[in-house]
Amino acid sequence: MNKITLLTIAIVSLALFVLPNTISMFVGQHTFEAGVQCQKCHVAEYCELYESTTIDVHKRAANNANYTTFLSVGGIEYNSSNSKIKAIDDKEWVWNGAWDGGNGTWENGSEHKLVSLDFNGDGEIGGAELCHLCHNSSLFGIEGHAVTVRVCDDDRCHGNRNHSYLGAATGMFANPANATYVVTAGYNLSRENVHQSFYLNLSNQSSTYPAGSPFGHSCGNVYGIALSRGHWTCIACHSDVGTDVTLNPHPVYNHSDANASPRRYW
Ligand code: HEC
Ligand code: HEC
Ligand code: HEC
Repeated sequence: MNKITLLTIAIVSLALFVLPNTISMFVGQHTFEAGVQCQKCHVAEYCELYESTTIDVHKRAANNANYTTFLSVGGIEYNSSNSKIKAIDDKEWVWNGAWDGGNGTWENGSEHKLVSLDFNGDGEIGGAELCHLCHNSSLFGIEGHAVTVRVCDDDRCHGNRNHSYLGAATGMFANPANATYVVTAGYNLSRENVHQSFYLNLSNQSSTYPAGSPFGHSCGNVYGIALSRGHWTCIACHSDVGTDVTLNPHPVYNHSDANASPRRYW
């Protein structure tokens, strides 16, 4: 074989690897194969993510295949005494552990699942693997699109005023007692909490992200047909994103009127 032929083969085979990633840009749709390097097109989001203070905890969550499986089957409860996930469609998924001869997957009858975001199998979540935790539609039961935006106060992440399913599934995490507040942060914020109105105010506004109908149900953090902006509250306190707040000072009484009618002052 001469050099030109070899070179041609090399270029063509290179193109085979490169094309699937870039093609999606032209057809206006994501293919989301494992290993797609999201940062090729989303470099700003990538840099922002890897500088964020919540990076390590989200990597840990993404590396927990029990949790990612729970997400993908639409879990609403996990019972650690019998290793069962109960899903929103009433299906039950039972862990068939590899150590006692099982196959190391979650089973529902003849269906088997173990959803892992560690696509390259190096035991860690790195690079673009992490993006899937919040953007891969198949994890969130959204049909029709490969990509979605799911936000902090999702039903199966930190919860919201309507649902916080992980509150009944803390047994999937390494330290269940400590996970309780982590996975119900949005729910707690919507209750008797000094920042309740901050959160609820934004929960009553629509973001630009379509809510869809995860697993055929409506999301708890929906407002109209879109996800609400409730998660902006989380981002406001937990990231370096600046907020523009206007504080209105209370009116002050200047004690000039001895006959002023009684009322409540702050
Ligand atoms: C080949 C380039 C390319 C790659 C690779 C790519 N994207 Fe995109 N992505 C785009 C473009 C272009 C848009 C904007 C589409 C639009 O405005 O309609 C977009 C939009 C998005 C959105 C916003 C969707 C919305 O509803 O607003 C998300 C989230 C997203 N991409 C995540 C990802 C993730 C995660 C990966 C990796 C698994 C990825 N993208 C890989 C080009 C790419
Ligand atoms: C911990 C969850 C999380 C992870 C991990 C994550 N994102 Fe996002 N992403 C979000 C949230 C939340 C939003 C919506 C922010 C908002 O409301 O402005 C978002 C929005 C986006 C958008 C849409 C921006 C727009 O203009 O609408 C793109 C694109 C995107 N992310 C890409 C990525 C890529 C690429 C990665 C991996 C490098 C990634 N994200 C990882 C949570 C995440
Ligand atoms: C008013 C500011 C504020 C808002 C709004 C806020 N947080 Fe927090 N959050 C904090 C502070 C402060 C801590 C405690 C940090 C520490 O102990 O180091 C915390 C702790 C947490 C923790 C760790 C809990 C633990 O027990 O370790 C999680 C998870 C969390 N917040 C998620 C969220 C989510 C999700 C939202 C939005 C629904 C949110 N937070 C909104 C300020 C806020």
